[in-house]
Amino acid sequence: MNVSLRQLKLFESVARNLSFTRAAEEMHLTQPAVSIQVKQLEDSVGLPLFEQIGKKIYLTETGQSLKSLCDTILGELARFEMEVADRKGLKQGQLRLGVTTTAKYFVPGVLGPFCDLYPGIEVSLKVSNQQALLERLARNEDDLYILGRPPKQMAVTALPFMANPLVMLAHPEHPLAGVKNIPPQRFAEEWFLMREPGSGTRTATERFFAERGISLRERLTLGSNEAIKQAVMAKLGVAVLSRSTIALESEVGRMVILDVEGFPIRRHWHIVYPADKRLSVVAQTFCDYLGSHTQAAGEPSAPDSEE
Ligand code: PGA
Repeated sequence: MNVSLRQLKLFESVARNLSFTRAAEEMHLTQPAVSIQVKQLEDSVGLPLFEQIGKKIYLTETGQSLKSLCDTILGELARFEMEVADRKGLKQGQLRLGVTTTAKYFVPGVLGPFCDLYPGIEVSLKVSNQQALLERLARNEDDLYILGRPPKQMAVTALPFMANPLVMLAHPEHPLAGVKNIPPQRFAEEWFLMREPGSGTRTATERFFAERGISLRERLTLGSNEAIKQAVMAKLGVAVLSRSTIALESEVGRMVILDVEGFPIRRHWHIVYPADKRLSVVAQTFCDYLGSHTQAAGEPSAPDSEE
């Protein structure tokens, strides 16, 4: 089969984006140039790789097999390039990170000095809630994931690297503000502002109260930490969020952390990847960097509340 690496790269981009236009943009080519190359590839294979239904394109079964072959070939090639660069004393290549919407508050602060130290490493960041990241992890779409809780149902390596306490937030004029040791049962009467299903923060909150037999009154479901904070500040209810999300607001006194028995919910940030994955040089460099540069920010190593 007369197939070039260039054709495989173009095909992979079209297959991942399911769009010739987006692949052309990504590869800095015109759309007809991409179409011609993919057509030549199809001719070499001798079977269609895509089918068009309406305006959308889909991978055929042959296309799907070729896409997974491309993932392997291009992944191994990128790894080899990084190893060669490493032997030349350079750390360079691409680092694809998937981080939860809650981790995005501290990850840029870590990435800044990391990118300064390793200017040859190009980082791309995918920010999603926990559930969406677990789906990406199952498909092995990124190099590393930063999650609040490693999945139990998948074989993964999970390295805890920094404390991630979850706190109960309220408006400063809330009647419980300033009260000591509030029993969790007291929150059965409160209106709660909750993250969307699929959020790690939501799961941890639900688990904490369910374990104590307390049902929560959910007033609003909001798809982001920012929206939750705005709703707390608008006195719409109380909410449980990671402490890393509220540095600014609590500093200027627009929100308070309530003193609830059993709180903060103890969690850790984990770097997670499939157990059988051989990390690239660049991914390993980032793991080592995180381990040595974030320990100081952690709290005494108590086990996570959810274990
Ligand atoms: P979330 O994730 O942004 O999905 O709530 C936080 C976490 O994983 O702890």
